[in-house]
Amino acid sequence: MKSVRQVAEMQAYTEAATSGLYAKQSGLVGKYDNVRKLWEDESTRIFLRPHLERLIDRRVSQMQRVRIMDLGCGSADGFELLTGIRRRDADLQDFEITLLNPAVLGRYHGVDLNEELIQQAQYLYGDYGKLTFSQADFSQGLPLAPEQRPYDLYFTSYGTCSHFTDDASLIRLLAEIAARTRDYCLIVCDWLGRYSYEWQTLWSNDLTQNHTMDYVVSYIYDKEERERRRDELQHLQLRLMTRQEAEALVQEAGRRAGVPIRQLGFFDRSVLTGRHMDTAEYNPHAPPLRQAVNSLHEPNVRTDLGLLEFDYVPKPGFEFVNDYFEHLQMCWNMLVAYVEELMLKYDESTQQYRSPPTPIPASYPQPLQEMMQRMRRVVEGTAWLGYGLPRENIIEPQLGFALRHLVVHLQQGFGCAHGLVGLFEVDKSEQKGTLG
Ligand SMILES: C[S@@+](CC[C@H](N)C(=O)[O-])C[C@H]1O[C@@H](n2cnc3c(N)ncnc32)[C@H](O)[C@@H]1O
Repeated sequence: MKSVRQVAEMQAYTEAATSGLYAKQSGLVGKYDNVRKLWEDESTRIFLRPHLERLIDRRVSQMQRVRIMDLGCGSADGFELLTGIRRRDADLQDFEITLLNPAVLGRYHGVDLNEELIQQAQYLYGDYGKLTFSQADFSQGLPLAPEQRPYDLYFTSYGTCSHFTDDASLIRLLAEIAARTRDYCLIVCDWLGRYSYEWQTLWSNDLTQNHTMDYVVSYIYDKEERERRRDELQHLQLRLMTRQEAEALVQEAGRRAGVPIRQLGFFDRSVLTGRHMDTAEYNPHAPPLRQAVNSLHEPNVRTDLGLLEFDYVPKPGFEFVNDYFEHLQMCWNMLVAYVEELMLKYDESTQQYRSPPTPIPASYPQPLQEMMQRMRRVVEGTAWLGYGLPRENIIEPQLGFALRHLVVHLQQGFGCAHGLVGLFEVDKSEQKGTLG
């Protein structure tokens, strides 16, 4: 028979296990894998930062706080994404570096069609006074009653705008945002990119074709499980977007509202690391690069760097896209091969190279040259460290960040990635100025 103490101990473990807090957390798989946290969230932050900074300065100069509406908020991951944007000029000794700190954040309001997700968001954040949620269908227009104050930032993330499978309802939503703007707002639209390598079989030069894709949510399972559950997998019809189409759509919305919606920039997010790279569901040639990048960033895990090198297979008739991907592939593989060479030649005991590493040609693109130079310093600066697994915990994660830098600086915002993000502004203060 178990003693009272043993029963209490068992209960404690049962509670811990059922709370979910004992679940194995790994950055190698799942919704919040390393690529999502360190590449996708972060590159969106990098892109948004200067514009958010301007918006905050503007509002603070008017003695106002920033109000955000997250459209298709799900369980409110956008809140963490946005409040994770940090000051670029922060010094090492600074601690409070969040741009949207409590002093400037007025309200975050999330809307979503899915009731369970709204409940989950409420469960997670309901106690924070400034976070509110409501269930609404954004395809029926902007969920903002006439008596409600408009927002300063209308945010979408992770392909949410691709849920507008007919352009008319997105045009209507954007036109309503523009019409309701008092002096100024920022809008972030996030679509699936038409020319992601993940779905190369779906590429079309005729933009009236393949408007939407049958997006199968198969990546949550490993290969065998995926095939076993093939019939139960969820399918979504999602809009594939190019910059050209997005520009036309936003221009039309501005025309309808009678106020321009000005574009601030487009950005290709997850160029070679979208979730369907690993499934090869829509492109038999897609290499599982997300898995390999996840491994680079995983503590205490040594990655086979050979898994990062890949051979881009061009699609005839898409020369512009092929040129872009071939160039990126050459830069990416070169950086990986260079780091392999550095690790091979560096002797930790003498802190010298056994033979000099290959010189970096001045003809290489600037971001590649810079990342090769930085990786050389990383290897020289840490390979001798000995403790803390320098390769797994320093060199590999830094290679991950160097590859991210390369991708972010070579992307062109044309829709050649899993996500195409467009950032726009509506500025009525200029109109007021001219009207006197
Ligand atoms: C790709 S998920 C993004 C979720 C969340 N923003 C994130 O970062 O994980 C798209 C979200 O849009 C929501 N959604 C789809 N169609 C919608 C509609 N017509 N109105 C409101 N929300 C919608 C879905 O329920 C889902 O939560």
